[in-house]
Amino acid sequence: MIRNPKPRTIAFYTALAVGVIVGLLTLLVNPDYTDAIVVTVAVLLISFGLFYYALEVFIYRKIKLVYKNIHRLKTTRFKTGVFDKTAFDPIEEVNEEVIKWAREQKAEIDELRKLENFRKEFLGNVSHELKTPIFNIQGYIHTLIDGAIDDPEVNVHFLRKAAKSVDRLCDLVEDLINISQLETGQLKMEMERFDIHALARDIFESLDMKAQERNITLSFKEGCDHAFWVYADKYRIRQVLVNLIVNSVKYGKDGGQTFCAFYDMDENILVEISDNGEGIEERHLARLFERFYRVDKSRSREAGGNGLGLAIVKHIIEAHEQTINVRSKVGFGTTFGFTLRKAAAD
Ligand SMILES: Nc1ncnc2c1ncn2[C@@H]1O[C@H](COP(=O)(O)OP(=O)(O)OP(=O)(O)O)[C@@H](O)[C@H]1O
Ligand SMILES: [Mg+2]
Repeated sequence: MIRNPKPRTIAFYTALAVGVIVGLLTLLVNPDYTDAIVVTVAVLLISFGLFYYALEVFIYRKIKLVYKNIHRLKTTRFKTGVFDKTAFDPIEEVNEEVIKWAREQKAEIDELRKLENFRKEFLGNVSHELKTPIFNIQGYIHTLIDGAIDDPEVNVHFLRKAAKSVDRLCDLVEDLINISQLETGQLKMEMERFDIHALARDIFESLDMKAQERNITLSFKEGCDHAFWVYADKYRIRQVLVNLIVNSVKYGKDGGQTFCAFYDMDENILVEISDNGEGIEERHLARLFERFYRVDKSRSREAGGNGLGLAIVKHIIEAHEQTINVRSKVGFGTTFGFTLRKAAAD
């Protein structure tokens, strides 16, 4: 607990000491008790006034100011951020220190509040995303139990639908595990040297059927159809490329094109996946890599998306200490570009 200093008491005792000393000196010079008492009382009163004034004006008020600030900061819980700043000298330094400390506390509390909101929002999003497939599964199973199981027209159809929702649930849980491991730094990147062109070609082949459903062609930009060696976690970069290429198909236009390009940038290789799809409005671009952020919610859900793909992609690229960016124009298409450390060729 902080105790208030008492300037009156300090001034009184100091003045008393001075008065007594001066009184004794007077007695030595002139052994008249009446004179000595008068001088002592006069000196006591004058020095009390002087000490009290000096203490009050130069020290006590400034200490009070510091206490006032501490009290206000405690009671207003740093909401206003406005501080009294009229003191100077050493006491002002203490005041400055208190203000600095309070500002730091305020920044820390603001940050904690932001994280708390972030956590609440995340929890809300997760529950919302889990709800849909769980309710679907519940609905199909109850309908089957209530008699649909004996109806050969619908039973297999309902079971298939329930199975699809279970798959969706598994995907979501896997994505969530991935995000949390990446965010807590539990996932260490297993770095190796590999040819990213060969990896992209494999992925093109595995996604060819999906692309064909929308008549989208997957190909390399001119001059990029040869080996490009990088040093990265191959399994994680596969995840990155799959999400970007699947996105380009999901949000591309029927009969459109997806291109993969590589650019040699001295120390790094820049990888770009571009499409000539619907494009993304400028105002969405800054938030695109946030968890659960979707531009077109219904279209993403329809396509089975969780809205976590790009958040995972960004985490993976950042775990490689590299960068990712996006540029897009509505009606023309979108390009995602990320860098990877270049490795020596064979
Ligand atoms: N190439 C693209 N063209 C247009 N919009 C895109 C493109 N890529 C992503 N988006 C938009 O960004 C959103 C976020 O993409 P993200 O990959 O994170 O989620 P998703 O594809 O919806 O689901 P998930 O990848 O988790 O299965 C998408 O919902 C979509 O609206
Ligand atoms: Mg995606």
